[in-house]
Amino acid sequence: MPSIRATDSSVIDDVLVIGFSKSSGGSKKSPQFNLHSGDLKVDVSSLLEALDDLGASGAADEVIKLPGRASKLIVLTGLGQAPSNNRFAHETLRRAAGAAARNLAGHSSATFAIPHANLEEFAAISEGALLGAYAFDEFRGTSKSDRKSPLGKISIYSKSAKKSEYTKSLRRSEIIAKYTFIVRDLINTPPSHLTPDSFTQRFKKLASGSGVKVEILNDTQLRKLGYGGIIGVGQGSANPPRLLHLSYTPKKKNVKRYALVGKGITFDTGGLALKPAQGMEAMKSDMSGAAAVSAAALAIAELGLPIAIDAWAPLAENMVSDTATRPSDIITIYGGKTVEVLNPDAEGRLVLADAMMKAAEVGKKAGGLDGLVDVATLTGAQVVALGTRTSAVMTNNQEFSDTFLEIAQSTGEQFWPMPLPEELRASLDSPVADIANIGDRMGGMLVAGLFLKEFVTPELPWLHLDIAGPAYNDAKPHGYTPVGGTGVALRTLVALAESMASR
Ligand code: BES
Ligand code: MN
Ligand code: ZN
Repeated sequence: MPSIRATDSSVIDDVLVIGFSKSSGGSKKSPQFNLHSGDLKVDVSSLLEALDDLGASGAADEVIKLPGRASKLIVLTGLGQAPSNNRFAHETLRRAAGAAARNLAGHSSATFAIPHANLEEFAAISEGALLGAYAFDEFRGTSKSDRKSPLGKISIYSKSAKKSEYTKSLRRSEIIAKYTFIVRDLINTPPSHLTPDSFTQRFKKLASGSGVKVEILNDTQLRKLGYGGIIGVGQGSANPPRLLHLSYTPKKKNVKRYALVGKGITFDTGGLALKPAQGMEAMKSDMSGAAAVSAAALAIAELGLPIAIDAWAPLAENMVSDTATRPSDIITIYGGKTVEVLNPDAEGRLVLADAMMKAAEVGKKAGGLDGLVDVATLTGAQVVALGTRTSAVMTNNQEFSDTFLEIAQSTGEQFWPMPLPEELRASLDSPVADIANIGDRMGGMLVAGLFLKEFVTPELPWLHLDIAGPAYNDAKPHGYTPVGGTGVALRTLVALAESMASR
């Protein structure tokens, strides 16, 4: 991860990053540009002339490198159309900083002079810059040496650099970036190198010394204790399933307590409902929810937030073999509900059901949960409905959902509310068990949500986040988002904890 600091001196790096936008007076024929470097004076007249000739547009994700005078390189990062007051949205700043950082791989350091009027805007810029400076080269062998390493040192130019809130905010951005990178790394790690067991071992290591308690149940224990969902999904694999529990209790007493449950399928072949080969490789990302909630718990602990968090990661590999669950098999979820497994590819909801039941039980014993949030790459239907950059939110508690969506606005992660229509529930009825694991194909994301709803009591405020599309970027990089694992949900989970801790 790059290092980051704030500076108020105009001594600048070899690389200077500033923002630019098309001014509203310009036209297609003679565009006019505005440069945005905050309080830093940059000699710009020659730059502005060059922009036109370069065919620049100032749009988001446009990054232009020009030779500078005071610095060797001036990097212009597009801010899109400037609002009339020249105050850009937080996410615009975050993405512009990220796009610049992403395009500066191979450089050792850069100073970002992007305008900001307050601490939140400054935080967005520093967070974006850090998140953009990511690479995953762990598994490159002979090609490793020709890879440019990500930007090493980030300086954020700010006239408030010396204020303590600003330094504190940099510390928060570092923690966010550190754990986002952990989530991305885990998603990008293929199932040859990430099994349910090795996932738990990684977090055991990461948690050591953090004050976060780690409990791991192995397959023998899971079978004995009645986790039929996790066992049923994992029984076809040579890599046995696990249940990881990370528990953070702050020093402060009488705090709120939330449970986070993340789908942890280290690879989803579809089981005996085998997926087509085309695109199956993306199913190494089917543990994104588990990675996000586990890393969020560690981030919340490292930030020392006055809130209690239990993160649960039910982990299994959904494989095809003579021991795999067959369509029509009946399993018993933790707590006693039976499920007819009509489609072994609808496996996420089975492992989540076990973990959600356990999370509520443990939460109750600890004095009661204020809410439970599950995070899962649950359905292809989510991607069809909302595309690859917007996650879905379903709930049994409107107020909790409204609060969550409002908090998500500040993080820049895109979430959209989805209903759980009662009339779809009957499609999950089974002629032989308490419930079937698939129902109507139409509205498949909502049907999956309705299935999960059966495993929380109505009194427990619950959110279901389907991140199937946004968790993994198999298209082009953009803003601070790389190709591969994105780390989505982590930032909003941390923001949720911060917000809940302070009300
Ligand atoms: N992991 C998949 C969902 C998924 C699809 C995530 C595409 C990311 C991208 C999940 O386990 C699955 O296979 N869901 C099935 C459910 C169906 C059988 C009811 C699906 O969406 O097709
Ligand atoms: Mn599946
Ligand atoms: Zn899956």
